[in-house]
Amino acid sequence: MAPRFHDLKVTEISWQTPDAVAIAFEVPEKLREAFAFRPGQYLTLAAEIDGEEARRSYSICSAPGDALKVGVKKVADGRFSSFVNEHLAVGDTIRVMPPEGRFTSLAGERHDYILIAAGSGITPMLSIAKTVLGHEPESTITMIYGNRSTDTIMFREELEDLKDRHMSRLSLVHVLSREAQDVELLNGRIDGERVAELASRGLIDLLSADGIFLCGPGEMIDGVSATLKALGVEEDRIRFERFTPSGDAPRPRARSAEAQKAAEAGVEVEIVLDGVRRSFPMSEADATVLDAAHRVGLELPYSCAGGMCCTCRCRVVEGKAEMAVNYSLQPWEIEAGFTLACQTRPVSGRLVLDFDAA
Ligand code: FES
Repeated sequence: MAPRFHDLKVTEISWQTPDAVAIAFEVPEKLREAFAFRPGQYLTLAAEIDGEEARRSYSICSAPGDALKVGVKKVADGRFSSFVNEHLAVGDTIRVMPPEGRFTSLAGERHDYILIAAGSGITPMLSIAKTVLGHEPESTITMIYGNRSTDTIMFREELEDLKDRHMSRLSLVHVLSREAQDVELLNGRIDGERVAELASRGLIDLLSADGIFLCGPGEMIDGVSATLKALGVEEDRIRFERFTPSGDAPRPRARSAEAQKAAEAGVEVEIVLDGVRRSFPMSEADATVLDAAHRVGLELPYSCAGGMCCTCRCRVVEGKAEMAVNYSLQPWEIEAGFTLACQTRPVSGRLVLDFDAA
């Protein structure tokens, strides 16, 4: 079943920093199964803001079995995060899509993890750390967490508490860009160079880690991933969750000549969603399949609409398509025919997309 929104009641809002909150939701018994989650997954929230529907994804910060909670940091010009931080109150209900995402802890029972987060990128890491430390008695975690200063550290108390409870298995390293710390290496931003230096000084062991998880702004992820690969870390041991594309990330591509030709001629799009087939025409005015579906009033699953979250992932089962940009599908998924509906442009006269494909 494709994910659908449900109304959940807000049961708690706790301020983490002057511009970040953790929001807890009540999950009614009948939705327990739908809202069961794996550590590291995210929720998509939807609300009407200034007369328009807005959606945003936020990572879950709690561990499975605990109350369902997300962390929301207010971002400059962020309509949704401002709405959440300034207007949402305990007792309100908000539309929430069941958990999604593949940025989750490793299968198996014993691992050495390196978790590298910046800013609100700590949110899924906290969920992963709590789960791993609670359920994998022999696993270890080294967490490198970057912020501007101590007062901008989200979940500071919870992290310290976790460290105190699992001293021998969790090592927590704060990197601060605008507050001096005694160790010079820990002053500044997290980037590839700093991670390489931490490794060369023996603070992290990149080559023996089972999984190196990265979460935060695109620049940090791209820079650190490139360094890790250059230092010999295999690609399949690096996992990341992107909160924003990096400044030098690929820009959306203009329509190819074939896509332009198909758009001018008109395309018939068929969607398979929850076992039901629906068709609609797509014209030159529709930038993507998601736009065309919106125009005809067909609700498709989506969140970021920017190629980052994968909520709109589906499979091309007939016809051909291209994507304007892709920050989230892995090469094997593209090989297997998956696409992101929010970025998809047909390059054939008929295109069938299956949202039920696993
Ligand atoms: S909606 Fe996020 S990738 Fe398409």
